[in-house]
Amino acid sequence: MYRLIFKLFFTKVDPEFAHHLGAFALKALHAFGLIRPTKSKESVSVMGLQFQNRLGMAAGFDKNAKLIRPLHALGFGHVEIGTVTALPQPGNPKPRLFRLVKDRALINRMGFNNDGAAAIATRLSKLRATNTPLPIIGVNIGKSKVTPIQDAVSDYSRSTSLLAKYADYLAVNVSSPNTPGLRDLQQVESLRPILQAVKSQSLGKPVLVKIAPDLLDDDVRAVADLVIELELGGVIATNTTIRRDGVSENKHLHETGGLSGPVLNLRSVEVLKILREKLDNRFTVISVGGVETKQEFQQRLSLGADLVQAYTAFIYHGPAWPRKLTTV
Ligand code: FNR
Repeated sequence: MYRLIFKLFFTKVDPEFAHHLGAFALKALHAFGLIRPTKSKESVSVMGLQFQNRLGMAAGFDKNAKLIRPLHALGFGHVEIGTVTALPQPGNPKPRLFRLVKDRALINRMGFNNDGAAAIATRLSKLRATNTPLPIIGVNIGKSKVTPIQDAVSDYSRSTSLLAKYADYLAVNVSSPNTPGLRDLQQVESLRPILQAVKSQSLGKPVLVKIAPDLLDDDVRAVADLVIELELGGVIATNTTIRRDGVSENKHLHETGGLSGPVLNLRSVEVLKILREKLDNRFTVISVGGVETKQEFQQRLSLGADLVQAYTAFIYHGPAWPRKLTTV
């Protein structure tokens, strides 16, 4: 059914418009009680938090914390909202999202369009006050575009102080390719003060750092060492890639932005292995990038991922996909 709708409709309309339509449909289905969370017997404890299952919606799908309950109802055990920036911002000019259908991939240069930390904190506080069943909520924070890179620490710090109270865990995003200079913050000397500042404002909530697949292996190891040194919660790997190898010829192939989907699988698995070699089980590794099938989901877990996230496969496979992946 979803395949047919996708073919007939979604491939004809602008991908970002389709995203908004899909989000609207999801909210409506949830509001009318047509999708509901099911009780899970498989609940798992990670970072001292109780997750209904090990699959989460990756950051970027629900940038403004408006889809948490509908996504939970579809079977995601956690939802990472954001990226949220300290200041509200419109993101890059459109078009900024492209489908590479043959490879079931996406290229995006959204540029952290979001309502800003204060508005999103208010939204989360109202959601928490409803006392309805919620998934685990991760809050992914990034640097505001107008904030100079040398002031990044105070920008991340400001978002953390507004949002930590409502988050189950915090994710520090230093790996989006769509904010100039952001990925340079992955270098340990730049990253250390940011992570220290976020940790000091986190109210004891676990802090994870989200890294790019394009880091060299030694840089991945250096981030892992820093996570150990600062006693952080762990690492989320990976974000989208700026590389284009392995992708079929496509009119959008050379659009600027981050590539996601199955082409990321190989590198994401490599990064997971590197991280697990370094990080013992006191540290959480969330594996993300190119997960599409149940076997791939299981493979990440068997390689030591505590949790797995996905975004692009959900776009291509539709609302029944999360349950298909997690039902035993
Ligand atoms: C993303 N991703 C992302 N990540 C992040 O940390 N903050 C963000 O705001 C976004 N925004 C975003 C928008 C769009 C349209 C896409 C497709 C992706 C990256 C995402 O969370 C994930 O790390 C990658 O997409 C790799 O996973 P998949 O999509 O291959 O499962």
